[in-house]
Amino acid sequence: MSLLLTGIAELTTNDPARAERHTDPGDALLGIVRDAAVVVSAGGVVEWVGPAADAPDADERRDLGGRAVVPGFVDSHTHLVFAGDRSAEFAARMTGTPYDGGGIAVSVAATRGATDDELRRLVGHRVAEMRAQGTTTVEIKSGYGLTLDDELRSLRVAREVTPHTTFLGAHVVPPEFASRRSDYVDLVTGPMLAAVTTAGLAESIDVFCEPRSSHAFDGEESRAVLEAGRAAGLALRVHGNQLGHGPGVQLACELGARSVDHCTYLEPTDVEALVAARGTTVATLLPGVEFSTRSPYPDARALLDAGVDVALASDCNPGTCYSSSIPFAIALAVREMGMTPAEALHAATAASARSLGLERRVAPGLPAELAVLEAPSHLHLAYRAGVPIARALELRAPVGG
Ligand code: NIG
Ligand code: FE
Repeated sequence: MSLLLTGIAELTTNDPARAERHTDPGDALLGIVRDAAVVVSAGGVVEWVGPAADAPDADERRDLGGRAVVPGFVDSHTHLVFAGDRSAEFAARMTGTPYDGGGIAVSVAATRGATDDELRRLVGHRVAEMRAQGTTTVEIKSGYGLTLDDELRSLRVAREVTPHTTFLGAHVVPPEFASRRSDYVDLVTGPMLAAVTTAGLAESIDVFCEPRSSHAFDGEESRAVLEAGRAAGLALRVHGNQLGHGPGVQLACELGARSVDHCTYLEPTDVEALVAARGTTVATLLPGVEFSTRSPYPDARALLDAGVDVALASDCNPGTCYSSSIPFAIALAVREMGMTPAEALHAATAASARSLGLERRVAPGLPAELAVLEAPSHLHLAYRAGVPIARALELRAPVGG
């Protein structure tokens, strides 16, 4: 049964083929179609996109009542597999205690102590929360297990809800290895990585790379992790330049990582490296982290003007940002980082998809991953900050109820 969606006041397609019809740069970037219709096949694939007046017939029709439709958000950076509660750490931060990554050990202890079913329930709840806010694709990292068995089960639980799983055994050095850092790096790059890849549980590998003084991994350690991951056939992702002017961005660009995430503290040479890596390495900005850690926001405007590929994601995690909301990230990007609403939406869909090796357009032949807004245009995502106007479009359920 094919389905014709009508009553779409504004459709964001992300389709460059539709750009030339627009003089407004935002409308061109988003490939906007006004008074649009979409036909979706029984298998959930887009069959036709265009003005409602030209729409073909379909077996069923659904009128979206003048709402806007956007590509489903792609949350390309999350840490959803964790147990425990760190709200007190957040409260302390708001009165001046800085974030240094030390709290990760608290989540590691709680996660190790949780049963598989508890982790499954927590992850399921978080993914449902995301869908209810318009996210239809999610990447999930391990990184709160930090033993071979606990990393494997974290990835197994993540795999039950998404193919986009990332092995983050190199999140921090766990307490039992505190005086044996290099042994832990050997464990991550040796037995852990081998077990993860043998079981086929990860698409990517990630490392928390920062200056040597932090709880994270320095440039040399990070290089070892990324090179081992690449040799094992995984795509590369990097947590870089979050806490200071670390080597993460340079390393990610040099090694051809799909994404370097955070980019809070950038030197001009980091921006140059990102410009040179355009088309390969996406700079994924996570403004919910700056919000929740009271850090300076990265200058997305300068990155875009320099020609860097910029994506947006939530970084939903118990420490630096327990927000699963992409609309919140979009609102912060517009209010605090100089992005236009169109650039922010593009960054949270097309660009974040690219960082996962995916496409996120609304075009024939592609999956109908859509979000519907309780609003007539995408501008409302930032304009109505804090109001839950976005949700994933369930193709077989009524809209508006
Ligand atoms: O992306 N920076 C490293 N990892 C997470 C935070 C982890 C935590 O504090 O629990 C992040 O910010
Ligand atoms: Fe993260």
